[in-house]
Amino acid sequence: RHNFWKSNTGENPLFNTDPGKLEDQAKAKLTQNGWYYASSNAGQSHTHTANRQAFYRHRIIPRMLVDTEQRDTKTTIFGHEVNAPIGFAPVGINKIYHPQGELPVASAAGGLGLPYCLSTAGSQPIEDVAKSNEDGAAKSKDGAGSAVRFFQLYMPHDDELTRSLLQRAVDSGYTACGLTLDTWQLGWRHDDVATSNYAFYHGIGADLGLSDPVFQKRLREAGIDPKKQPNEAGAMWIDNVWHGRAHTWEKARWAMGLWKELSGGKPFYLKGIQSVDDAKKCVEYGFDGLVVSNHAGRQADGAIASLDALEKIVAAVGDKTYVMYDSGVRSASDVFKALALGAQFVWVGRLWIWGLSIMGETGVDHAIRSLCAELDILMNVGGFQSIEQIKKDGKKNLDSGE
Ligand code: FNR
Repeated sequence: RHNFWKSNTGENPLFNTDPGKLEDQAKAKLTQNGWYYASSNAGQSHTHTANRQAFYRHRIIPRMLVDTEQRDTKTTIFGHEVNAPIGFAPVGINKIYHPQGELPVASAAGGLGLPYCLSTAGSQPIEDVAKSNEDGAAKSKDGAGSAVRFFQLYMPHDDELTRSLLQRAVDSGYTACGLTLDTWQLGWRHDDVATSNYAFYHGIGADLGLSDPVFQKRLREAGIDPKKQPNEAGAMWIDNVWHGRAHTWEKARWAMGLWKELSGGKPFYLKGIQSVDDAKKCVEYGFDGLVVSNHAGRQADGAIASLDALEKIVAAVGDKTYVMYDSGVRSASDVFKALALGAQFVWVGRLWIWGLSIMGETGVDHAIRSLCAELDILMNVGGFQSIEQIKKDGKKNLDSGE
């Protein structure tokens, strides 16, 4: 069994593992722009609050006299064995948090043997992130690392650019693609709007886009030299992807077809599903899975809590497609509850952002290793031997009464 308590240096956790305290430390360390980007929610934060509150409505029912010496947090996702049902959700422009951006995050994920999902809004080239992910897995001293990486697509309206991004992801060993549906325009986030933070994003390395040969062609066509006009180049990249114009179900199917053609049939899933009807459409259109997510409450304020959406979606399509979960996960008990309510896998975002902001790769490793260790201990004190067991008994593991 993986011993998450021991860090790669064989020591116990470096600093406090409480997510609220990590958030405070990150706030103290980040620039105002960085903090606003990471922490801002849409509108009055009603959905963000609802995401958190939904977890309190379910309480775990521990079991006694179970031989949990045999317990194991391992599970599989799209055929890959990973050390816990926890993955690194895609988060854009990581250079806002750390000078090396996505590289330390992908490396930490490799070291932990957990899946890493790179955002199209990444601030490092796809290829460099892949290498860092491999290096992180290779240097893992406890031998438990593995480099499982997926690519999150924000689909440009420029089809040639989409093809180029997906081809680069396939060539660099990304083994699944998740199309994010909820963010073809950024939500109304007061702090960001008040400080013109969106314009600020343009200036910080959109190297994933700028390193793309098709995008470079587009820059030349527009007469923009990214070396001399980095802000204009960044703005053009952002406009290409966040254009304020939604796609269609047919177009999403087209993207899946393209990914399958380029990757030889690897999985393609949808991220940002919140309605039962959309989940049914996901099945009807033949996508390989979905992530129930409201983007951490950053898009439609007042939207349904992601955990409440999960319950309804699992009831409708849980036996027909691979249902994953994110939004608001801060502790092992949150992971447990999502699994018990029918999620096959859980992604986390802000938790690792706090770690990255505080202490780079060491901080990311600390934050997520601690979450995994907490899950291991929760399984021990709660009487659960395996992730499969939590899923199998499902809602029976929860008291969800008022
Ligand atoms: C995100 N998220 C996100 N999702 C995505 O598909 N592409 C992206 O580029 C980003 N960028 C991003 C930036 C920041 C600062 C945050 C907080 C979130 C959403 C992310 O993948 C995930 O859905 C949520 O972060 C999950 O909620 P928690 O774990 O942060 O509460």
